[in-house]
Amino acid sequence: MTALNPLKTVGEQIAEIYRIHKNLGRRLAWQKAIARLAETGIAEPERRANAYPHQLSGGQRQRVMIAMALAGEPRLLLADEPTTALDVTLRLQILDLLTELQQRNGMAVFLITHDLHLVRRFANRVLVMENGVIVEDAPTEILFNSPVHPYTRKLLGSRPERRIQPAIPGLPAAKPLLLADNVLVRYPRISSGIRHWLKPGWHVAVNHASLVLGKGQTIGIIGESGSGKTSLANAVLGLVNHQGVLEVEGLSWQQARRGGKTIRKAQRRKIQAVFQDPYSSLSPRLTIEQIIGEGLQYHHRICRPNSGASEFLPCW
Ligand SMILES: Nc1ncnc2c1ncn2[C@@H]1O[C@H](COP(=O)(O)OP(=O)(O)OP(=O)(O)O)[C@@H](O)[C@H]1O
Ligand SMILES: [Mg+2]
Repeated sequence: MTALNPLKTVGEQIAEIYRIHKNLGRRLAWQKAIARLAETGIAEPERRANAYPHQLSGGQRQRVMIAMALAGEPRLLLADEPTTALDVTLRLQILDLLTELQQRNGMAVFLITHDLHLVRRFANRVLVMENGVIVEDAPTEILFNSPVHPYTRKLLGSRPERRIQPAIPGLPAAKPLLLADNVLVRYPRISSGIRHWLKPGWHVAVNHASLVLGKGQTIGIIGESGSGKTSLANAVLGLVNHQGVLEVEGLSWQQARRGGKTIRKAQRRKIQAVFQDPYSSLSPRLTIEQIIGEGLQYHHRICRPNSGASEFLPCW
């Protein structure tokens, strides 16, 4: 996702490949770019082609990257976790697209993934790697049916498991931790030419969403790529504007902002995020220690002394 140029529209970035590597004219290159985007399952490809990377969802950006890679009709495709941000139906669509290209051009694919189902469905051979060493190499079905190496067996035998705790007793049910009522998030719609100046439109990303999340509970949000999951999360974090009610422990971001710096800071500390795209959420200018330390310093006044001591102490 950080491979996309933030200063160019995604359509231009795909078309560039046709212009540079295939010597096509601008108009034809643009048409081909849109056709490639459409193949990856992006809705309204003509409109999306005019979007900048930050205006697309995580899965849409990943599909742009796939479209770019396939535009050059490569002989060898190195695909590093190509479908992690996609839901199952889209994942299958991308795999069908890769299979079709393989059949048409004889393209070879080096597929790097954690997803065992994906490997089983797509790969001819599977290599299992542990600590830099390829510990097992076998045709797919043989590897899945009779794994030899203990690490492969462990991989195939592990299933994510979570024992759900019963709701914590004695908590007042009336006071939810997160309350969303009729939340609406919208972004300005990009359309080209004079139309845009006369009547700017809106793209509604979250449409009247309501939910209640109690203390100690987990809510899972599932939905196809571009359905508004991250937009809703960003609204909870106060990173995008929204309409409707959105409260964390009874306090909305509007109230927190009006209440001044101390209240705003306290509210910020209560809500933390793990972003979908780690590369663009970590500053490339800071070390990992500085990145983690920054939060401790800002919210808890805990610092690491310069003397090289390994412990964090209260800041002076
Ligand atoms: N900054 C923005 N400007 C304009 N449109 C945006 C912006 N951010 C997101 N969108 C659009 O809003 C819609 C919802 O995006 P969102 O990122 O919330 O989807 P998502 O459900 O998280 O998808 P994914 O599973 O692909 O991450 C998408 O159609 C996306 O193109
Ligand atoms: Mg998302």
